[in-house]
Amino acid sequence: MSNYHIKGLEEYFQVYRKSVDNPTQFWEEIAEENFVWRKRWDNVLAWDKEDNRVKWFEGAQLNITENCIDRHLYIRPDKTAILFEPNNPQEPAQHITYKELHERVCKFANVLKDKGIQKGDRVCIYLPMIPELAISLLACARIGAIHSVVFAGFSATALSSRINDATCKMVITSDGSYRGAKTIDLKGIVDEALQDTPSIESVLVVKRIQSDITMQNGRDYWLQPLLDVASSDCPAEIMNAEDELFILYTSGSTGKPKGMVHTTAGYMIYAAYTFKNVFQYREQDVYWCSADIGWITGHSYIVYGPLVNGATTVLFEGVPTYPDWGRFWNIIEKHKVTQFYTAPTAIRALAKENLDYVEKYDLSSLKILGTVGEPINEEAWHWYNDNIGKKKSPIVDTWWQTETGGMMISPIPYATPTIPTFATLPLPGIQPVLMDEKGVELTGNQVEGRLAVKFPWPSMARTIWGNHQRYKDIYFSTYPGNYFTGDGALRDATGYYRITGRVDDVIIVSGHNLGTAPIEDAINEHQAVAESAIVGFPHNVKGNALYGYVILKETGEGRDHNNVRKEINQLITERIGPIAKLDKIQFTSGLPKTRSGKIMRRILRKIASGETEQLGDISTLLNPEVVEEVIKNVLV
Ligand code: PRX
Repeated sequence: MSNYHIKGLEEYFQVYRKSVDNPTQFWEEIAEENFVWRKRWDNVLAWDKEDNRVKWFEGAQLNITENCIDRHLYIRPDKTAILFEPNNPQEPAQHITYKELHERVCKFANVLKDKGIQKGDRVCIYLPMIPELAISLLACARIGAIHSVVFAGFSATALSSRINDATCKMVITSDGSYRGAKTIDLKGIVDEALQDTPSIESVLVVKRIQSDITMQNGRDYWLQPLLDVASSDCPAEIMNAEDELFILYTSGSTGKPKGMVHTTAGYMIYAAYTFKNVFQYREQDVYWCSADIGWITGHSYIVYGPLVNGATTVLFEGVPTYPDWGRFWNIIEKHKVTQFYTAPTAIRALAKENLDYVEKYDLSSLKILGTVGEPINEEAWHWYNDNIGKKKSPIVDTWWQTETGGMMISPIPYATPTIPTFATLPLPGIQPVLMDEKGVELTGNQVEGRLAVKFPWPSMARTIWGNHQRYKDIYFSTYPGNYFTGDGALRDATGYYRITGRVDDVIIVSGHNLGTAPIEDAINEHQAVAESAIVGFPHNVKGNALYGYVILKETGEGRDHNNVRKEINQLITERIGPIAKLDKIQFTSGLPKTRSGKIMRRILRKIASGETEQLGDISTLLNPEVVEEVIKNVLV
């Protein structure tokens, strides 16, 4: 029996038991047998329950890029590491071998050093899905710089606040990006963002769309000429196990985004371990995750998890709709993809189109399908299973979060029997618990509550950048000693978990986490707006869409409502990005509030979802009469 590669259900149960009975021995064996180290650890796990600090493999030294690249140079130098599929299907795909990846990462790392980047410095990466994105992550890791990738769909304001929060010294970007038939002026967004970012010393610019951009003398540098003269020799910086590898921002239910901090050894081990098992990865496979590297899914399961395992990982620049709705299936046929990992929102969008787009292509290479990011509804699950997997490829519904670093609850394909909408069983090392509202653990099966995790795992985020107190408050104060996920879940009669959705003010739209507070802040900046509240309502492609209730100031009452709606969405696009735009905006004279003045979002959510019959008792509200008005004017 191998702890590292689980092949059957019995084996899963045995390995799981071992991982719970003796977690440190379990992870120690995995660390010992499957990774390269510069120095062995002194201690597997140090857990300070009071201050919510964990350290895994303290004392060990390593560099994650030696695990992702160098060690493969002896065994599989000419194997494709990154298979780049460009936006335009006419442009040839690029097969970047492990040998080439090594050279490109080393050169890039030397450019970073040349521009003054040192171990511990933060580098912001704002790039489209091109090879330089993956390479820049690895180049940072090579020299011990901490990368902070910002998804290239975020606005200038969102970018600059993330740069300032982490006091980044450099931005890596491109002239622009391709998105289907459109191009996006990324450098223009960066220029705007850098108007108020005192920590930035330099900007590296990848040439991708050959657009005419402005370069600021002494600050901006084209990357290619620097690479042309860079040495391909760059010894890896020796890192401590708990040195920071990256920061990745995620929305919270309140306030500014949280810079989740992931460290080196534990993250590496867990991303690699879960990749191997959840995708049952084998040497000849061609694995494709369609997420963007700007999200945790891309960090863990396009870059680090696959590369540590010596895999071939597809990196796709484009969108599912370009040049037509068959693009995903075309890519699967073209590259003989064996594992395909995507989001339910993409499946729902594709399922709406004619099946001809699917049937034109040979999908017989597929062995495993995956989903992530939000609950998958039964209809989408069946469409995926019937038409893409042809009922032969198990679907792994993987539940996890930016904070968890890796998948937490997921079937092991060909071992765990799957049921639509169930993420099924915890992966080895993960001890989920369900809590009731009072914080009492719900034991046994057939229970529903709030999902928490009671024991540390190697890839958990260690802190929020610059604010450990906030980390403690958000994740560990609700159920002291346990990590609180913010999700609701149920455990069925067989012990399978089903995630029921967020229980806080985070709304998942098209698989993206959006906090209500930053969106409301953006709306309230509108000069005619007095107050606003955002809720989610069911949407057949996005999963949830956003519904805004807005109270206008007296001065704004005469304004054309449609114009105000447009201006509100424009403000949201500028402050956050187009992903946070509202689908519906209802103007109202008041919002239902508790006697302590808190907006009753539960009621607003029900009204926006058309569930007005189930509002419950509203008589205790400060202003029950408002509810009637809101119901009367609801937008359908
Ligand atoms: O609500 C859960 C939902 O996505 C949240 C985490 O979002 P984020 O940090 O952006 O990471 C997404 C990619 C890992 C969770 O709290 N979620 C994620 N996967 C699932 C899910 N909900 C149901 N089923 C899933 N498989």
